[in-house]
Amino acid sequence: MNGMPSTALTAAAPARRYSRIAGTGSYLPTQRLTNADLVVKLAARGIETSDDWIAERTGIRARHFAAEGEPCSDLAAAAARRALEAADCDATSIDLIIVATSTPDMVFPSTACIVQQKLGIAGCPAFDVQAVCSGFVYALTVADSMIRTGAASKALVIGAEIFSRILDFNDRGTCVLFGDGAGAVVLQASDTPGIIASELHADGRHVGILCTPGSVAGGQVCGDPTLKMDGQAVFKLAVGVLEEVARSVLVKAGRSEADIDWLIPHQANIRIMQSTARKLKLSMDKVIVTVADHGNTSAASIPLALDVAVRDRRIARGDTVLLEGVGGGFTWGAVLLDF
Ligand code: UT7
Repeated sequence: MNGMPSTALTAAAPARRYSRIAGTGSYLPTQRLTNADLVVKLAARGIETSDDWIAERTGIRARHFAAEGEPCSDLAAAAARRALEAADCDATSIDLIIVATSTPDMVFPSTACIVQQKLGIAGCPAFDVQAVCSGFVYALTVADSMIRTGAASKALVIGAEIFSRILDFNDRGTCVLFGDGAGAVVLQASDTPGIIASELHADGRHVGILCTPGSVAGGQVCGDPTLKMDGQAVFKLAVGVLEEVARSVLVKAGRSEADIDWLIPHQANIRIMQSTARKLKLSMDKVIVTVADHGNTSAASIPLALDVAVRDRRIARGDTVLLEGVGGGFTWGAVLLDF
């Protein structure tokens, strides 16, 4: 050993730290509206739409709306409890809570703090991430980074939305698209990945194509507090960035399209999902689609779809899953993980 202290040769490299999904959960409000129900509701306002138009242009057939007085934090806490149960862990072991939402209970404090209180725990950091429909991918990436650096060991990452509260029911181009719900995961430290690679982007030049421009000032709601969208502009940008970010996260991970077992894109429009799958040469059988039953639930759509596919046993331990978000901001991102 040439007189070298043996420890110098045998000391193990510091163990690498990753994050892995330990359990998933979701929650949908009980009130379910089919397209036919919405046609009737809108007709009463003199707004014309049809089941055929909604289903053909978007793939949506139904959505869930929260009950009056049911806050976003209730949906988030219900999804979180189910994720904790699936991960077989107690809320007291959670040391980080991140809620992705654009429809928080209050201006402040964060919905994450309210969820923390509802789960009966205290002390760990809790905050919201606001990246609209990319919110869950953003939140998961932040939680993964905090776990990798040792700042957290077991995180609740939640996407929760009540978009029904910010819809303009006189605008048929948007009010038929969205629904309410929540999805959650328990993300915990692991010595094997888990999350393999992620990538986040934003381009604020497109703030105006998808926004809810109202604000609160001087005790008044200023500006229009309902959702505005240039659907075609969003559609065009979405199909471009979803292909681009899928390819670059795969390169980062040293994997290829052929390694993807399941694609879970943000659930906004079946045509966007079909286009992404086609470009990535993936069969639609590998794409988890919940838009028909949930509508577009913004930051909740990806964790909701993930939980549905885990519970119906399509997604199994070890499967490689690509999550992709896109939405207002303009924001987009992807997370590649081994489940
Ligand atoms: O969650 C963030 C990401 N969001 C998205 O990715 C959404 C992206 N955009 C889309 O999914 C689609 O653009 C929409 C579904 C929003 C709209 O579909 P489109 O094929 O782009 O329709 P359009 O806006 O070009 O409208 C076509 C026609 C118009 O009538 P005219 O001008 O051709 O006579 C609209 O007035 O469809 C009409 N229309 C409707 N008709 C019946 C719009 N909304 C409705 C409606 N029912 N609900």
